[in-house]
Amino acid sequence: MPEQPFKKVFIFLDTDKHASPFDILTTIDIFPDALILKYENVTAEDAEKIVYDGMFPRGPEGAKHTKIFINGRDFKRVNEILEKIRKCMFPPFELAIIVDPKGAYTTATAAVAKTLELSLEKGFGNLENKTVTVLAGTGPVGQTAARLYASEKANVIVTSRSLQRASSVATKINEKLECERVRGMEAQTPEEIGKAIENAEIILSAGAAGVQLLPLKTLKEYGKNCKIVADINAIPPLGVEGLKSEANGEEILPNIFGIGALTIGKFKNKIEAQLIKRAAEGPKGIFDYKIAYEIAKKSVLKKFEEKKSREAELEKHWLP
Ligand SMILES: NC(=O)c1ccc[n+]([C@@H]2O[C@H](COP(=O)([O-])OP(=O)(O)OC[C@H]3O[C@@H](n4cnc5c(N)ncnc54)[C@H](OP(=O)(O)O)[C@@H]3O)[C@@H](O)[C@H]2O)c1
Repeated sequence: MPEQPFKKVFIFLDTDKHASPFDILTTIDIFPDALILKYENVTAEDAEKIVYDGMFPRGPEGAKHTKIFINGRDFKRVNEILEKIRKCMFPPFELAIIVDPKGAYTTATAAVAKTLELSLEKGFGNLENKTVTVLAGTGPVGQTAARLYASEKANVIVTSRSLQRASSVATKINEKLECERVRGMEAQTPEEIGKAIENAEIILSAGAAGVQLLPLKTLKEYGKNCKIVADINAIPPLGVEGLKSEANGEEILPNIFGIGALTIGKFKNKIEAQLIKRAAEGPKGIFDYKIAYEIAKKSVLKKFEEKKSREAELEKHWLP
């Protein structure tokens, strides 16, 4: 045992050439005294060596203060690293692991939770049995969002410019969740996008930065069932024409309410901070999209309950 309490150490394992400063800065702002170690271009084999060397020197007590953060653009490699290092840990040397590849988990979480929040606020209910279309849902954010919607028992369409890519995402989620809730669709032209959204009550545009996926005219023409439309692309041109980044529940067409990328981004940052805090407080465990969504959903439901009880309180003061 050192004379001083153990210092918090965060070991960043990044699959990219340059470790993202985003999550490092977020961590430092929460724990200014923490030590950050960062490794770049990390493979699963590298990660195993690094983690073994990080597990033992501080003994079992010190291991509780040593955290791993897996990051990077390469979604597949991030998951390989996670699998590898899970296998090399054993009691009492189990470190808490945060996983948020390029913000995809916390962004998807924030997007899904924000649509849930708006749906509750507008009286449309929760996500169960809702029909949801995730446009360009083949990237890390879209796949995660589609999976979260399906885990909430929504029926989900994932679109892509390639039917094969969309179907492969759908099959993977259905297999993992042992359900048949997700379906892939090819959608590239405005008409194909229109077909993909024609039954959707919720649309999440999850395309690459700077790509417009949903023209307003298409939403108007095909979005007859649509109640909520959200976009996570903050770089112009935005994913949904006419939906501003700052939108937070405003109507973008009659009876269609919008949530923009900056609104989702702000909530994402809060969720990420909570995720890091949870991992820092917990001696072990995996802090991934499941925990992130648990945090986000709890916050949304709490806010909704508080609003309802404020309204009930006000009602008491109305004249009979
Ligand atoms: N707000 C935040 O805090 C935050 C954090 C992270 C990410 N983001 C944003 O979230 C979005 C999704 O991130 P991501 O990393 O999952 O995205 P991504 O992998 O770069 O792109 C998502 C999908 O967009 C489709 N796509 C790419 N180029 C296209 C084009 N020219 N035309 C039509 N479709 C195209 C691709 O699908 P197909 O090839 O299958 O068609 C791709 O799988 C991005 O806009 C990103 O900037 C926001």
